[in-house]
Amino acid sequence: MCTPKETIIDLRSDTLSQPTDEMRVAMANAVVGDDVYGEDPTVQELEQKCAELFQKEAGLFVCSGTMGNLISIMCHCQYRGSEAIVGQSSHVFLYEQAGASTIANVSMNTIPNNDDGTYSLDEFQKRIRGSDSHEPITSLAIVENTHNICGGKVIPLEWIDELASICKDNNIKMHMDGARIFHAAEYLNVPVARITRDFDSVTFCLSKSLCAPVGSVLMGSNEFIRMARRYRKALGGGMRQVGILAAAGLVALNQIVPRIGDVHEHTKQIAQAIYDMKSPYLTVDIDTVQSNICMIHFLQPKKYSAQYFVERLNRVTSKELSDGITDKFGNGIIVKVMARDEWNCIRYVTYFHINGEMTELAIKKIKYCITELD
Ligand SMILES: Cc1ncc(COP(=O)(O)O)c(C=O)c1O
Repeated sequence: MCTPKETIIDLRSDTLSQPTDEMRVAMANAVVGDDVYGEDPTVQELEQKCAELFQKEAGLFVCSGTMGNLISIMCHCQYRGSEAIVGQSSHVFLYEQAGASTIANVSMNTIPNNDDGTYSLDEFQKRIRGSDSHEPITSLAIVENTHNICGGKVIPLEWIDELASICKDNNIKMHMDGARIFHAAEYLNVPVARITRDFDSVTFCLSKSLCAPVGSVLMGSNEFIRMARRYRKALGGGMRQVGILAAAGLVALNQIVPRIGDVHEHTKQIAQAIYDMKSPYLTVDIDTVQSNICMIHFLQPKKYSAQYFVERLNRVTSKELSDGITDKFGNGIIVKVMARDEWNCIRYVTYFHINGEMTELAIKKIKYCITELD
């Protein structure tokens, strides 16, 4: 039976992060202009700041990560008959409605992702084509960092450097879908510019764990951004007094990015608690928890599936209340996570608003529900 009130700890995605009070104030006070005319000073400030951070010539505020990726593909694949090599588990391939194909006329050549989010570079080299007139022309390589479906994995710098050298030798452009690039930088303890040094373009999201309500920033050379600005307009992404949103983005960079280490710590604490239970039914790969996303693997899915556990975490029983699985006010705890039954996994994601206390409550509930499984 449910209690009238519950504490809900929502770990389905970091897109659930909400604008902070500082963001709301900055948005209300933002100096704005018509950005399609290039007259919004707050947007310009954000774009310049990002270009400096990533050591690229210019930046462009876009509506979403999906739009940033699509525009990059449109810019880099100018020849009709182009293809982009992408990971088979990448967001751009799985979850962006094949915009590369349907809108940009670019085919995607997919390589299976390794568990660490990389793909085989031997295989990559074999896939490069274009010398034969029967074939498409490989124009672009896309790397996702951190890798969402691979459980927030940070792509190793050595692998990136090797890929860059292959791409340079074969005249292939590189784009990084860095939706959560600041998480990768935190884990590696390097500036974002080091990670994206050899990439022709990079996009990151302000609206995921960085708490801004809307927006991504795309960066590259002046020429790339000039072209990107044109395609953004064609896609309906030319926005007017959008400094209101860019103002939240500036706060995200100043206020939220420096706190990413705490977010990673909370992900790890939950993972460690699950791992320490040594359950025969579910576990995490504790040595590879690197950022704010973690996968819980179900070991006997026929007995207890990921979906079963999602539903259990989403319920409060009278027994658990009497067993003290409550917050400090005696309210039941609900933990929301996302099942990936096709991979026998649950994904949980932490973000700025999931503080230490909420992390402890989530651990309390998860541990209790694991104990019940026997
Ligand atoms: C790795 C990655 N790239 C791109 C996107 C797309 O971002 P948006 O939802 O802003 O279009 C997402 C969204 O979750 C993502 O996880």
